[in-house]
Amino acid sequence: MSDNEDFFEEELREPTKSDRLLKGKEYREVWEGVFDVKTLEAVEILKRRKVIEDLYWVVSTGKEADVFYAKSPKDEDLAVKIYRIHTSRFKRIEIYTLGDKRFGKFKSPIKAKWGWARREFKNLKLAWDAGVHVPRPIAICRNIVVMEFIGKNGTPAPQLKDVTEIENPEKVFETLINDIETLYKKAKIVHADLSPYNILYHNGIAYIIDMAQGVRISHEYALRFLYRDLYYIVSYFSAFLDELPSPDELYKRITGKEPDYIIKHFVK
Ligand SMILES: Nc1ncnc2c1ncn2[C@@H]1O[C@H](COP(=O)(O)OP(=O)(O)O)[C@@H](O)[C@H]1O
Ligand SMILES: [Mg+2]
Repeated sequence: MSDNEDFFEEELREPTKSDRLLKGKEYREVWEGVFDVKTLEAVEILKRRKVIEDLYWVVSTGKEADVFYAKSPKDEDLAVKIYRIHTSRFKRIEIYTLGDKRFGKFKSPIKAKWGWARREFKNLKLAWDAGVHVPRPIAICRNIVVMEFIGKNGTPAPQLKDVTEIENPEKVFETLINDIETLYKKAKIVHADLSPYNILYHNGIAYIIDMAQGVRISHEYALRFLYRDLYYIVSYFSAFLDELPSPDELYKRITGKEPDYIIKHFVK
């Protein structure tokens, strides 16, 4: 992917003096209003830059983001993930951003959401460049991440949690573990929210998605997140395979260390 063509971002203006004069609810409402206008503007920017031709329909409404099916001017299928501001999951979010210098101090809720989109895009790009099976990152603009669409005719591939038949589960499992290992060793990140919810199963391949909460391996909690990611994947595949390596073995294979008590007991 060429950075110059496909990747652009801009600085968000700081709240002005008059913004700061508004207090509490009023302040929030103003920023929410601005957010919606800014989002529409961002869609227009992406159209002008010939990234998106048209947004078609919503394929998912989550707590933090809506995902749209869209097309590029070259008729390629796109997934357009738009982070929403109307959420109250900052508590959960803080644990991931604390200690990660890349995503320091976002003050306004808008900045936070732009930060999440940028973070997802950067993690996707690190993963994609390392050769991991993720949707190809295409563009980032404000709170909008544009990526390759995993699915067919505007219908996303099923989440792994809804897949009841896998043709070659050994292979899918091994490829997934290799991807987690590549993420750790080459991209130097840990997904940190990996589960059968955040994996799309398409043409026999498990695609890892939803990377906004991914952390650098230097993050204080990176190893706990890694162990937990492995734990969920092994649990899921135990319904398909009789013999599986334990999360402990996989953890050791990836990090070269035994998981300690704290790391293992992070899984609830
Ligand atoms: N690249 C993609 N291609 C196709 N569908 C996608 C893509 N990214 C997300 N989706 C759809 O949107 C859903 C939610 O995406 P996800 O990134 O997990 O967001 P959330 O933050 O809401 O969990 C996915 O389960 C899938 O149905
Ligand atoms: Mg998700």
